[in-house]
Amino acid sequence: MAATAIDPAALEAAMDEAYAAGAAVCGEGQVATYIPELAKIDPTKFALAAITLDGFRTSRGDAECAFTLQSVSKVFSLACVMRARDLDIFKTMSVEPSGDAFFSIVKLEEERGRPRNPYINAGAIMVSAALPGEDFASKVRHFRGFLAEASDRPPDGFPVDEAVFRSEAQHGWRNQALANIMRHHGSLDDPDLAAMVYFRQCATLASTRELARLGLFLANGGTDPLTSVAVLPPAHNHRIVALMTTCGMYDEVGHHAIEVGLPTKSAVSGAMLAIVPGRMAIAAYGPALGKKGNSVAGMRALAVLSQRLGLSIFG
Ligand code: DON
Repeated sequence: MAATAIDPAALEAAMDEAYAAGAAVCGEGQVATYIPELAKIDPTKFALAAITLDGFRTSRGDAECAFTLQSVSKVFSLACVMRARDLDIFKTMSVEPSGDAFFSIVKLEEERGRPRNPYINAGAIMVSAALPGEDFASKVRHFRGFLAEASDRPPDGFPVDEAVFRSEAQHGWRNQALANIMRHHGSLDDPDLAAMVYFRQCATLASTRELARLGLFLANGGTDPLTSVAVLPPAHNHRIVALMTTCGMYDEVGHHAIEVGLPTKSAVSGAMLAIVPGRMAIAAYGPALGKKGNSVAGMRALAVLSQRLGLSIFG
């Protein structure tokens, strides 16, 4: 990929400004409460981390603090499924933004069990069901193995937050409803299995630094630039990153495109992963969320970083 390398000194200066800007709004917004265990998270945590394609790493704040990946995991489950099954998943799922909240049921019913895209909950549950493996344990093992391979960590490198997993499994009524609607329309076989695999994947733990490292292959056409492992073929990587641009921030994707201009995936835990194609991966963590369910501090910090370094893919 022919993109100008990021100058470390310029990156450090922009990181200082971005961190300060995020920290200034850190705590604005609310932590998610619909998964009761997430309501216990300290809303004042804040971290920013970046890693360039040539391996330069920098971070600020609580960058070692682990959080659950939640919806950021959807990018990696899609990558894992596309690697195993090519484009099959798109026979039963579209690639268009929904314009609705990530948990919405309305369009799924109107569109007869065909999810709009893989990053809203309905689509992600369908993707989880398609993970390689016959049962819960093997699907989860495959997913975790994929994360480890993609970021050069040991196979058990990404543990699971058992309390968050149980909490979502006990309170995930909407997600179970989405899975059952898809079962009704024949686009999913086993709604209980799909929902449980999805909850488990969402409860995967990583720190901001680890998340930036995990996203690095996405910034390099599907190949980890530090190990040269081809995680995904370039065309699959392109699709995954393109979908982050159009669907990764749910119904705040337009605002984010203007302010930040980078393919990004957010999560209700406050995690964010942004990709600068050909240049670097950036992760942010700030658990207090705005009205659309995205991290207030994370979005602010990414906006400053992108604007200072001229990173927007829209020029
Ligand atoms: O399914 C859920 O509701 C959560 N496990 C993940 C949702 C999520 O992170 C969406 N983010 N904005």
